[in-house]
Amino acid sequence: MIKITDQVFHLQTNDTSYIFAVSEGLLLHHYYGAKIAFFDIDHLKVKLHGGAGTAIEYEGKKQVYTNYLPFEYSTYGTGDYREPALLFHNMTDGFYANFKYVSYELDKNIKGPLPEAKDPDDLLKIILEDDSRHLQLQLVYKVFEDTNVISRYVRLINQSTSSIYLSRMFSGQWDFEADDLEMLTFDGAWAKERQKQTHRLDGGIFINDAKCGSSSNTHNPLTILKPSTTTEDAGWAFGFNIVYSGNHKTLVETMPNNQRRLLLGMSDFAFNYCVNSNETFTTCEVVMTYTNEGLNDLSNNFHAFVNRHIIPKQFQFKNRPIVLNNWEATYFNFNEKKILELAKKAQEVGIELFVLDDGWFGKRNDDHSSLGDWDVNLQKLPNGLKGLADKINRLGLQFGLWFEPEMISENSDLYRSHPTWAVKFPNHTPSLGRNQLLLDLTNPEVVAYLKTKLSKTLSEANISYVKWDYNRNITDMYGSALSNQGEFLHRYILGLYEVIDYLTNCFPNILFEGCASGGNRFDLGMLCFFPQIWTSDDTDYVERLFIQTGTSYGYPLSTISNHVSSVPNHQTLRTTPLHSRFYLGCFGVLGYEMNLCEQDQETLKAIKSQIILYKKYRHLWQFGRFYRSYPTIFELNRMGFYVMDEKKQLGLYGFFQTLVHPYMSNDVVKINHLDDNYYVFYNIIQKLNLLDFGGLINIASPIHLKVNGKLHRFIGKVYHPNTEKERYIVHGKAFFHAGVKLNPQFMGTGFNNQVRMIGDFGSRLYVFSKMDIKHHLKRTNFKH
Ligand code: DGJ
Repeated sequence: MIKITDQVFHLQTNDTSYIFAVSEGLLLHHYYGAKIAFFDIDHLKVKLHGGAGTAIEYEGKKQVYTNYLPFEYSTYGTGDYREPALLFHNMTDGFYANFKYVSYELDKNIKGPLPEAKDPDDLLKIILEDDSRHLQLQLVYKVFEDTNVISRYVRLINQSTSSIYLSRMFSGQWDFEADDLEMLTFDGAWAKERQKQTHRLDGGIFINDAKCGSSSNTHNPLTILKPSTTTEDAGWAFGFNIVYSGNHKTLVETMPNNQRRLLLGMSDFAFNYCVNSNETFTTCEVVMTYTNEGLNDLSNNFHAFVNRHIIPKQFQFKNRPIVLNNWEATYFNFNEKKILELAKKAQEVGIELFVLDDGWFGKRNDDHSSLGDWDVNLQKLPNGLKGLADKINRLGLQFGLWFEPEMISENSDLYRSHPTWAVKFPNHTPSLGRNQLLLDLTNPEVVAYLKTKLSKTLSEANISYVKWDYNRNITDMYGSALSNQGEFLHRYILGLYEVIDYLTNCFPNILFEGCASGGNRFDLGMLCFFPQIWTSDDTDYVERLFIQTGTSYGYPLSTISNHVSSVPNHQTLRTTPLHSRFYLGCFGVLGYEMNLCEQDQETLKAIKSQIILYKKYRHLWQFGRFYRSYPTIFELNRMGFYVMDEKKQLGLYGFFQTLVHPYMSNDVVKINHLDDNYYVFYNIIQKLNLLDFGGLINIASPIHLKVNGKLHRFIGKVYHPNTEKERYIVHGKAFFHAGVKLNPQFMGTGFNNQVRMIGDFGSRLYVFSKMDIKHHLKRTNFKH
């Protein structure tokens, strides 16, 4: 809801308020936080500072110092020396800017040219003008009440007769005050994406940005502001994200009096954009949320927002299929026979969609050639894509295909016929990434070519899924069709959005999965088109615990694509139990990526039961309310993830451990937000592997067994005792405040069949469901 009285603008979501007002013609921020009533905001009004030393008085107005005012959108040139949201110049008039409030409009149907969140409850457009420069600014605010999210973007309309050059134009600004303040960022690298980092903001300027042309695995655009006392389940926090897939920037400047300025949006790095007379420039959208109930609640806001307002409508809350991807099973070395054998095994264990990864086109037998030649390799697949897809469909599986459309190999027919379509600086040897170059998406000819070529290939066969990869970042930026190279990085993203907008509209039923060497472009811009993203190339259980935990702060489980792969793991060479890889993979969109033809019967049987279990709870695992237990894996060697349905009737709790240690604190499961009801809580019983006990087996064995000897291995193969069995009835409130004390973990002595044999990299899955306590008491003859 948006309420406007006397130039005071009050934006309200279910639990938050965002208030700004006009004062001295300037648009000043008043409040963002927990919801407050509409009326009487006198107490919030910005106080003009008295006696601010050498500060500059704005337009000669007594005691109006722009350097201390909380602006909704700041510029440069009137005495505010903090980082400005907007900076531009032209040769004749220079850098000065001074925008004043003019009017507002309310209209939910306004749409910008970039991907943006859909279906807001309200939209407010504020119009500001700089008369002397003949420029208009439009600040667009969207309110998403049920998810507690407010979004912003900005348009600049050049009404003057000369061009202006933008060197910075952020989408959002928030001037506020806070003493104890930290910023959480999600940083990393290839195979180590979105690691949670905490930065104290005590002074100076802190920046979280990407400079490589994509939203990056180095610094994800998601950021969170909070005091040091906020935990997963308590305390206030503000979350921010950027609906953009290119270079982004979030900056916090802290003044000596703990006044803070947050700016966020497209990065100003290597950015110089010309806006000609009568042209408009529009920024990307940014989103923000607030909670006073801890980081889980903040994540819940973002999860609901992405599921309801970012993901393409036709995929909202639609169950995602379980895939088998052939990449780690075959890499480039496959033919139709091999693929069909894999697909057959996939069908036998219950997989629903087969994804043919890299290597099906041109002459691509390694990563040195053929990107750009999106025609099937008939030597590998003699019956073409259609022949293969039909056979896979006949097995009862859907068919999916890998592409990397933004790239070109020097060794490709496309490069030989269009060398200028590659991104490279004239007369210089370009820098290669994975032996490849980028296609110049700033060139309209290239964009047109990709639209035609890809739609043709996608129409050739019955394709239900596309994995859209992107395996190198931008260098040698130069667009042969551009008149201003300062626009290259932004125009590349505009070209990309044009292609994917076109294809996802032409093929609305194809499920696109974003990928960029794993999670190098895990952002809200891509999610506007692609409902899920390959989280990381790293499928190791331990690494994934960190990666999935970090990702979960801002992105819902329905977007987090996870594959169970083989061991030793291809990225870390670590061996971890199959059940742990599976349980962790369940918290998101589950798939498999291993050579099923080489797995023994026991493993295939286990995978088959895993898939039955996943299908049973799939909707909960993809769309349920998700929580992290506290402490998380970033603080301790074990943690819990849990999901529950909206009605709080059914939930699943995954317990995950890295290395076991003696004398660890007891494992206590705490589940928050349950109702005033009773719940039954129990573990899914697993099978123990006797080989894991090593020589200890002889304590129980009537005859001596040589460790790993023939007999030991035989018994290990045929006899699989059950793990512990735990079952408790817990009151919903006690579940969080007191928790469930789990059986102790094995610690060298005192083993019995109720001790939890978790071990290194072990895990458990627990189910909790609401119960009818009266019925239960009657049945058990319980008497008061
Ligand atoms: C990088 C992706 O992340 C992998 O999953 C795989 O598709 C390879 N590219 C193929 O080249």
